[in-house]
Amino acid sequence: MADQRCRLPGWRDRVMTAEQAAELIQDGMTVGMSGFTRAGEAKAVPVALARRAAENPFSITLMTGASLGNDLDKLLTEANVLARRMPFQVDTTLRRAINDGRVMFIDQHLSETVELLRNQQLGKIDVAVVEACAITESGGIVPTTSVGNSASYAILAEKVIVELNLAAPAGLEGLHDIYIPQMRPNRQPIPVVAPDSRIGTPYIPIDPAKIAAIVVTEGKDSPSTVLPPDAETQLIADHLIAFFEGEIAAGRLTPSLLPLQAGIGTMANAVMSGLKDGPFENLSMYSEVLQDSTFDLLDSGKLNFASGSSMTLSPQRAEQVLGNLDVYRDRLMLRPQELSNHPGIVRRLGVIAINTALEADIYGNVNSTHVCGTRMMNGIGGSGDFARNSQLSIFVTKSVAKSGDVSSFVPFVSHIDHTEHDVDILVSEHGLADLRGLAPRERARVIIDRCADPLYKEALNAYFEEACQRGGHTPHCLEKALSWHQSLETRGTMRAMAAPLIEGGNVA
Ligand code: COA
Repeated sequence: MADQRCRLPGWRDRVMTAEQAAELIQDGMTVGMSGFTRAGEAKAVPVALARRAAENPFSITLMTGASLGNDLDKLLTEANVLARRMPFQVDTTLRRAINDGRVMFIDQHLSETVELLRNQQLGKIDVAVVEACAITESGGIVPTTSVGNSASYAILAEKVIVELNLAAPAGLEGLHDIYIPQMRPNRQPIPVVAPDSRIGTPYIPIDPAKIAAIVVTEGKDSPSTVLPPDAETQLIADHLIAFFEGEIAAGRLTPSLLPLQAGIGTMANAVMSGLKDGPFENLSMYSEVLQDSTFDLLDSGKLNFASGSSMTLSPQRAEQVLGNLDVYRDRLMLRPQELSNHPGIVRRLGVIAINTALEADIYGNVNSTHVCGTRMMNGIGGSGDFARNSQLSIFVTKSVAKSGDVSSFVPFVSHIDHTEHDVDILVSEHGLADLRGLAPRERARVIIDRCADPLYKEALNAYFEEACQRGGHTPHCLEKALSWHQSLETRGTMRAMAAPLIEGGNVA
């Protein structure tokens, strides 16, 4: 079986244990690893690195596609292997280390990391560690359930370690489309004109002499952690479906909509699942992570094609999809994240982007990353790549978090990932705010009326009215703009803002 997977002549001469391969990685190096939204990460070498560091401390800069599964970020953090980490993560232990200042985390647009590397703005990659389901006769690396940044890491690295995962289905071969944009200033247009455009090779083309080690593994991806839809996410989906129906009736969209992107997390997954109950047909996706909802839509016959950079699935879905790849083969494609999130392609295709906000303000600025403006949650991920360039930039959020102690709609967001200029539509369980063509003062009225929770509406209106009395294109009471977050930090709740006469309240 291994010889069918690894067709590179003489490959067995390069086989070694994960521990031996990990010796290629030394203190101070920059390492590019596969792995995107807990899919397709190198599984053995990181564990060997953590074990070695426990005895002989060393640290590295680790770049990946996005988040890693199998608790690898936790293991590496606990072993103090991570000096610097980019461009995205979702791990609780690593998050704590980032917020304590022990790991330097660079939160990057996911389309941008390899562009910066290629242009020598991020130093060089010493070693790439890439999970593969096969190696071709010419040394081409066939990724597994994600492409992420693996292709450019392997191409740019001095040495490459391939983890040949024999537990990954051989049928993954053929799903990938690897294309690397040319160097500037002579770059040619990237010829993706539809989600199913195939423009590259089904493997990562590298000089086989760079493959310094092949580690044979049999690990599985971690399952997705998204929760099933609940009553509120269902309401958000219902508002969006009604909005899309209105757009079709107005002639701005057809029942095929436009290529859809859905961000990570429970909310976006639930919204996508909800589309299968709407009056849509021949849908397509040009997205980053393909979650269970993608396959719900493919199975329902509503979705014709899905292009992404990874597949992150629940255990049941993973078994069903990976065991029946032939059912989906003609309707799926996995691309480098530089391409799945490419601003030019997103704009060309007119993608409809649906991402999740931690909080939004009354003017439509969105914070996706920093709790109370300071504590990193996960990272901006691809949300910025899509939000700025899509035809319709939609952000969804429940109107409150932490059982109502936190209003997701605030006077001023405490950190801005997506400016008001990049946000067309905001949706909560209460309703949908269509902000297109509205000036800031109009946006505030619509956002408060449609999206804010009734508990906080009056206080938001009071803030807005006081701000309007002071004037300005985007009126604010600067000394109170972050008072809701101050209340959360000091009292553990924003509820005081909802009761204006309580000391410290919004208009007291
Ligand atoms: N202040 C403080 N905490 C908040 C909050 C706020 N305004 N809004 C939500 N939270 C908390 C929730 O209570 C929850 O906490 P818990 O883990 O202790 O239960 C946590 O944040 C996650 O929120 P949840 O409602 O479960 O949403 P989610 O799983 O859909 O994730 C984001 C939401 C914003 C964290 C997530 O979508 C993200 O990381 N986005 C940035 C990257 C991105 O958008 N990529 C898209 C391209 S793939």
